[in-house]
Amino acid sequence: HSNEAMQMIEAHNLLRKFYHHLLVNTKEGQHALEYLLERGFTSESIGKFQIGYALDSWDFDFKFLTNKNFQPALMEKAGLIIKREQDGSYFDRFRDRIMFPIFDRNGETIAFSGRSLGAHKPKYLNSPETAIFNKSKILYNYHLARPTMRKLQQAILFEGFADVIAADRSGVENGIATMGTSLTEEHVSILKKNIQTVTLCYDSDSAGIEAAFRAGNMLHNANLQVNVAIMPDGMDPDEYVKTYGEEKFRNDIIHSSMTLMSFKMLYYRKGKNLQNEGDRLLYIEKVLQEVSRLDKAVEKDLYIRQLADEFNLSLEALKEQERQYYSKSS
Ligand code: UTP
Ligand code: MN
Ligand code: MN
Ligand code: MN
Ligand code: MN
Repeated sequence: HSNEAMQMIEAHNLLRKFYHHLLVNTKEGQHALEYLLERGFTSESIGKFQIGYALDSWDFDFKFLTNKNFQPALMEKAGLIIKREQDGSYFDRFRDRIMFPIFDRNGETIAFSGRSLGAHKPKYLNSPETAIFNKSKILYNYHLARPTMRKLQQAILFEGFADVIAADRSGVENGIATMGTSLTEEHVSILKKNIQTVTLCYDSDSAGIEAAFRAGNMLHNANLQVNVAIMPDGMDPDEYVKTYGEEKFRNDIIHSSMTLMSFKMLYYRKGKNLQNEGDRLLYIEKVLQEVSRLDKAVEKDLYIRQLADEFNLSLEALKEQERQYYSKSS
């Protein structure tokens, strides 16, 4: 790290400790702490993930940092304060927000995401890209999850911070998340270096399902085994844990995940009446197109047999059509 980068990291580490102190020990942070406990966060999680609170102030961070002799221009580069166009003065980026520190793989704080307590937009305000923070390479909780990921040769990939933390509280310690961005090839290659299997556990709303398709295909193309865990009723994992409990989350969601292909088949069935001939043909077509993208003959055979059995079709006809899609796509 350059000297500037080291100072940026030091400023983040100091602020992280102070935000945490404000949340857990002060009257100013009390409403934020109550909000978190009400949502099901435990004191243990709050400590483990070093969650904090940024005061409802325009210059608290600015004063805190300048008192410690950090240069304002550098703190602006670090994304912690923002310069006013009019007079060149500075104000704090994060105000009246629950602060989730983002750690690099060595456990240094390199960024924050601040969740608003009320209706203030955006819901999560992230640090900008800086010399020390590159969103497309960072996986939330990677530094803590990595040993378990490697031991189990598996990671559970979530959409959000709250999901990773609810999973951790449920005993699922290999959870990670991207930070409001889609999965990138950089993320995939980090995962590829550590594990064989990724279980996608995105929100079960339409955005989450679409995202699971895209991420699932990327991971599959990198030769990772992909499973998908889904929640009922459009829920997300943190809502599920709060509603149904930790044990049910582990058993009925994480340990009951399905293969990417089964997930796709389930998805293509949605809204179709398979008793209806037209719908049935459309469904079979979709599945065969997916099968044509598989690269293992045994995988192909498995799903083609399933189709043949379910719809009483000849293997020959199904294979013939699958080959047509295959030659079109290659
Ligand atoms: P969600 O909207 O699913 O939020 O966005 P969530 O994780 O369930 O948050 P809670 O439970 O309401 O607190 C998923 C992720 O997308 C990013 C965050 O990383 C969030 O965890 N996001 C979302 C943003 O970066 N900015 C936003 O305004 C919203
Ligand atoms: Mn979501
Ligand atoms: Mn969510
Ligand atoms: Mn949520
Ligand atoms: Mn494959």
